[in-house]
Amino acid sequence: MRSPPPSPPPINSPTIMSTPPQHHHIDINPFTTFQPVILQDVPSEIQEDSAESQQVQPQEQQQEIYNLKSINSTIVIRQLPSQGLSFQLWPAATTLVTLVDCHNRCITTPLSAVFNGGDAIQHRGIRILELGSGTGVVGIAAAAILGASVTVTDLPHVLPNMQFNVDANAETLKLHGGAVEVATLSWGDTQNMEAIGREFDVIMGSDIVYHDHLYEPLLETLKFVLLKSEKKIVFLMAHLKRWKKESAFFKKAKKHFDVEIIHKDEPSNGSRVGVMVYQFVRKFRAKLNSKSTVL
Ligand SMILES: C[S@@+](CC[C@H](N)C(=O)[O-])C[C@H]1O[C@@H](n2cnc3c(N)ncnc32)[C@H](O)[C@@H]1O
Repeated sequence: MRSPPPSPPPINSPTIMSTPPQHHHIDINPFTTFQPVILQDVPSEIQEDSAESQQVQPQEQQQEIYNLKSINSTIVIRQLPSQGLSFQLWPAATTLVTLVDCHNRCITTPLSAVFNGGDAIQHRGIRILELGSGTGVVGIAAAAILGASVTVTDLPHVLPNMQFNVDANAETLKLHGGAVEVATLSWGDTQNMEAIGREFDVIMGSDIVYHDHLYEPLLETLKFVLLKSEKKIVFLMAHLKRWKKESAFFKKAKKHFDVEIIHKDEPSNGSRVGVMVYQFVRKFRAKLNSKSTVL
């Protein structure tokens, strides 16, 4: 039996670090532009994605504005809450945006080793793949903040809203030398994975471990990109633990990857845990060799 969808994102409490990007939740009138009108809460129930997700009703739209301090710019993200969980912003996404924004302003952060990479990255700019991007906020913010080339991905029905958000931020992206491409990547789909390839420095994902039937396909995708690449690719995953069963995902992942927690948010909204950011890298070959020698 499939587990229930994740609980609603506490959209109005994204403050997890001392200097987070400011994040406003505002209704929009789709017939004007992104002009803030009134404050409104997200619905208390998060639905699975609706079959009619393409038939957007104007009143169902909301926007979030993220203030990216490190580049003194904002990005705007459209949510379509009634269309399901792929069309909403999740707390882990805000954590990743905050970390990347902080990275750009501080001398050393948990992400320094990841983003300051080798000469190749310095020379050509960083290339990022985001998995299960939803609204696209993490990829769009990372592209703007780091001047990175980012591929944001998700299931096909999620892409039009993601593309809308990329287009809405085109000027900011251009100004900061960032580029965002939208592509289908259904986890575990060989054709999709081959089309996306492995030419990335960093893989990112926020709130993508929730349904247990998705653990295997997600791991297949990570194995495809991280294990078969010639270089060391890092996967950064922001995750808010909701169910005990999620430990099965980490247990499976640890067979192939070294998994390390690089950041922890303080718990908010009465939760016992806060969002955590994990770094996955493929297990070091020498370690495997020495193990097999011992055996
Ligand atoms: C909880 S949402 C998180 C969205 C976004 N990363 C965020 O943090 O705001 C999970 C995302 O994973 C995507 N997803 C679910 N199953 C997937 C699959 N099999 N392949 C690719 N993406 C999938 C959903 O469409 C959704 O956008």
